[in-house]
Amino acid sequence: MTEHSAQNPKKLFIKTYGCQMNVYDSDRMVDALVPHGYVETRDQDDADLVLVNTCHIREKATEKLFSDLGRLKKLRDARAAEGKQTMIGVAGCVAQAEGDEILARAPGVDLVFGPQSYHRLPQMLDAARSDRIVDTEFPEEDKFAHLPRASKQATISRGYTAFLTVQEGCDKFCSFCVVPYTRGAEVSRPVAQVLEEARNLAAAGVREITLLGQNVNAYHGVDDKGRAVGLGKLLHILSEIDGLDRLRYTTSHPRDMDDALIKAHRDLDTLMPYLHLPVQSGSDRILKAMNRRHTRDDYLRLIDRIRAARPDIALSGDFITGFPGESDADFADTMKIVREVGYASAFSFKYSPRPGTPGAELDDQVEEQVSTDRLAELQALIREQQVAFNQSCVGQSFDVLLEKPGRQPGQLGGRSPYLQAVHLDADSDLIGTIQRVHITGVGSNSLNGELVAKNPEISVTLQHGRESVAATRT
Ligand code: SAH
Ligand code: SF4
Ligand code: F3S
Repeated sequence: MTEHSAQNPKKLFIKTYGCQMNVYDSDRMVDALVPHGYVETRDQDDADLVLVNTCHIREKATEKLFSDLGRLKKLRDARAAEGKQTMIGVAGCVAQAEGDEILARAPGVDLVFGPQSYHRLPQMLDAARSDRIVDTEFPEEDKFAHLPRASKQATISRGYTAFLTVQEGCDKFCSFCVVPYTRGAEVSRPVAQVLEEARNLAAAGVREITLLGQNVNAYHGVDDKGRAVGLGKLLHILSEIDGLDRLRYTTSHPRDMDDALIKAHRDLDTLMPYLHLPVQSGSDRILKAMNRRHTRDDYLRLIDRIRAARPDIALSGDFITGFPGESDADFADTMKIVREVGYASAFSFKYSPRPGTPGAELDDQVEEQVSTDRLAELQALIREQQVAFNQSCVGQSFDVLLEKPGRQPGQLGGRSPYLQAVHLDADSDLIGTIQRVHITGVGSNSLNGELVAKNPEISVTLQHGRESVAATRT
């Protein structure tokens, strides 16, 4: 694309919906387009190319796309009246599931492409100048092997924490879920590829990496000898990287928490004591109908083993209310399992029937109002547990990764090992360092603390890492 020079770059705006994997993919789309003369902008009205990276998980998420596309069509027309061309692309899971329908319903859209083919974006954009296109294939080639690496500056401008997708797709086929259809079969990236990306992130100054996968604990990437390596082993390998102080992973399925992974929680200081382990329901009958392939007791025993390995681990989960056939007694079992486990935080959703999933075909769909009421009750309990967990941290001291300026002048914001937001007064030169913080109080969704003592060793290393920082993306 010769018409865009470095002096006159094309502006790219990306709006991202959905899970962390979409956030990761959006950054990689930027990386794919930068060598072709694009720069990212935060101003949609000024963009030559607008990409919407979509989520199909619940109906609400999907609806948002069509209202966005209506607005984008107007923007495109307004810019055209000023003699400016705007291209509009739809990426992600709605694109994968409803590619042709998007083109039919949204006349302003130039290209639609799924989560597995965005490494071809530059070529797709060229082709879309003459013809509207849909690319929702699951290509033979590995997209990761074809994506350019982000520069150090671009990497650290995204923050001191980074996502790294190690596994994609899902073979579990929970009966409510579209992911196996939108993201395809489970695939793990080879160890060497993950290691290289993690080293590059660390070399740019990133301190914390969250490994991502729709079902990340099913990771089984091959090593150089062609042997499959599980997530526990991968975490051991990554924890050897200099400068990388914190590792996390999400999202996990209870059936794939193997012994090596549980032991990694016991043995690795770099692995943060926080685990997102969704159970969805506390009722065996509903778990079976959901095709989760484990019982409530399996889950509770698993939690016992994880807590035995890492007693201070904080747990998080996902829950669905109103799955077809859910009775008052089933819902009471969900409330009971939440009480039994005690979560530090959790996400909960009203069941949304998704086209093409077995759940959507079931007869006894639960009345909307019943589902809504159950959700409110569940969320109140989860909130209560979250407040109690945060309260229990007051008076403790722990290491906080200081990530960005805080809300008030003179304040910084960071994350505790348990993923809580922490605010404290500290100099901005400590951004990007890990400091010991004494927790003094709780805010509505965060903790307040004060520096115990400045940790000089870490800040020196990091100052070096920060030399190339242009701006912190918040
Ligand atoms: N792979 C992850 C979850 C991916 S989707 C796992 O297995 O845990 C994230 C969450 O969205 C799910 O855990 C579930 O709670 C929720 N979800 C998925 N499909 C849904 C649907 N049809 N209706 C409501 N919530 C849903
Ligand atoms: Fe969806 Fe179940 Fe796979 Fe999670 S494990 S992505 S909920 S099918
Ligand atoms: Fe949504 Fe696709 Fe993620 S459906 S939750 S963006 S995998």
